[in-house]
Amino acid sequence: MLFDKNHRIISPIDPALVEPITVACKAVDNWSTEEYARYEKVLADGKLVEFPFPIAKPNKEYTAEQSAILKSSRPLLEWIMSLPQYKGYKWIRGEVATLIPGVTLGWHKDPCWFHDNCVRLHVPIYTNEHCVQLWEGEEYHMELGNLYELNNRVMHSATNKGSTPRTHLILDIMSEEKWLHARMVDKVNPIALVDGPGDYYKAG
Ligand SMILES: [Fe+2]
Repeated sequence: MLFDKNHRIISPIDPALVEPITVACKAVDNWSTEEYARYEKVLADGKLVEFPFPIAKPNKEYTAEQSAILKSSRPLLEWIMSLPQYKGYKWIRGEVATLIPGVTLGWHKDPCWFHDNCVRLHVPIYTNEHCVQLWEGEEYHMELGNLYELNNRVMHSATNKGSTPRTHLILDIMSEEKWLHARMVDKVNPIALVDGPGDYYKAG
């Protein structure tokens, strides 16, 4: 059963696991270049580096700057996937997402098949006190130093009203059992559905 609150803290995080990602992200001069663009209409003001999905896009090409960000995340990813509550979970998708100052994302529910079956995790890499996640009737600031779970299956958004960028590592993880069910019983074609533009790109 996926949790039905908007957010919760899963665990404190050893700062040494986050530090290399902070360094790699702070080396980015300009998040507004083409290589960090995103194309989903409601999220188009956000910036990201997307991991090559374990299930698709294994041969993406990255700049040296992007590679450094993804590689620096590995110890943190390994620690998260080793947590006892995620035994038997599979990493489905991941990104390092930045909100530059002044940006508010469009309101949306994350719409893909895997969003309905995944635990959505966030790790703040750097932030400021004017960055908040938004749900209908609630806003919430995520502090450095924690691993969070968020509900992205209801209407939500995020805003950065501060003067510095906000960067989070974001992961979607799913139980192997659900994964196998989706593939074998529901006949989901995960590669096509995760890779395909679908309605997500037309939303809003
Ligand atoms: Fe979302």
